[in-house]
Amino acid sequence: MEFRKAEKRKAKLRLGITGAAGSGKTYGALLIAKGLGGKTVLLDTENGSGDLYAALFDYDVGTIGAPYTIDKYIEGIKQAESLGYEIIIIDSLSHAWAGEGGLLEQVDNIAAGSRSGNSYIAWRQVTPQHNKLIETMLNSPCHIIATMRSKTEYVIVENDKGRKEPRKVGLAPVQREGMDYEFGVVFDLGQNHMAAVSKDRTSLFDGKTFQLSEQIGETLKQWLESGVDLRQRKELLAKIFARYLAVCNGDRQQAWDIIVSITHGKKQVMDFSEDEMQALTAEIERRENEAQSRN
Ligand SMILES: Nc1ncnc2c1ncn2[C@@H]1O[C@H](COP(=O)(O)OP(=O)(O)OP(=O)(O)O)[C@@H](O)[C@H]1O
Ligand SMILES: [Mg+2]
Repeated sequence: MEFRKAEKRKAKLRLGITGAAGSGKTYGALLIAKGLGGKTVLLDTENGSGDLYAALFDYDVGTIGAPYTIDKYIEGIKQAESLGYEIIIIDSLSHAWAGEGGLLEQVDNIAAGSRSGNSYIAWRQVTPQHNKLIETMLNSPCHIIATMRSKTEYVIVENDKGRKEPRKVGLAPVQREGMDYEFGVVFDLGQNHMAAVSKDRTSLFDGKTFQLSEQIGETLKQWLESGVDLRQRKELLAKIFARYLAVCNGDRQQAWDIIVSITHGKKQVMDFSEDEMQALTAEIERRENEAQSRN
């Protein structure tokens, strides 16, 4: 048996980006990859659209053509891994579902060829493939960014001049229901290129809307490397803050000033070290005891 020093496990990114055509999935994925930093390959299913941004970003392209079988996706991922890529952009995952030769078509074909014409048995045959693709993505040693096209629909909205006009909105991603649960983070892009967050295990983006950028990639990288469970830490800090607030008789500024003095000027929970979190707890205990002995 070999012993090695225990280390914080660095996680790999599992990011989904959904949006209608033109919302910024490909561009956004490349921006985030740049912020993450690392040798990047884009697995392009859209027939050359992967080269669109060659002048702006440094990345390689691999093509997945029709029929869009799961095996081709898995092979693309495995090949990228063995060639030493650190970031794999799958653009897009929707073809594996709804494209020519994708899972939906396979189900139709199997059902049509069966005596009953029933799709129930067809799903049983096809589902293991779907699961295998998910497994391959989740177990990859690379960062995975997968785009999914949303169905497009128009809604009539009133513009600022009071006139009614159609606005394009993206709906559910074109993939098997529940695919979004497989990702740690999912950005939903609107037609104005603004991202909303539909799933966020990092709790970095709670309730925010923003444009995808290199900076977002850097923030994600920092989170991945910190190995910190942010949600847990935010809850803990909220409790600690309440205690500082009590000791400071409700003076928020004073409470926050003390905290920042202990965290060496850092203001983001994400940036606090484990030692600083412990120092915050120790200091509030000291102050509480002091206040108690005064009373
Ligand atoms: N974060 C962004 N910042 C600035 N411009 C953006 C951003 N995202 C998208 N754009 C603009 O929108 C254009 C379309 O983006 P992109 O090609 O990524 O769309 P897409 O969602 O991949 O579309 P498709 O579904 O057709 O592949 C870009 O060429 C760029 O000009
Ligand atoms: Mg695209």
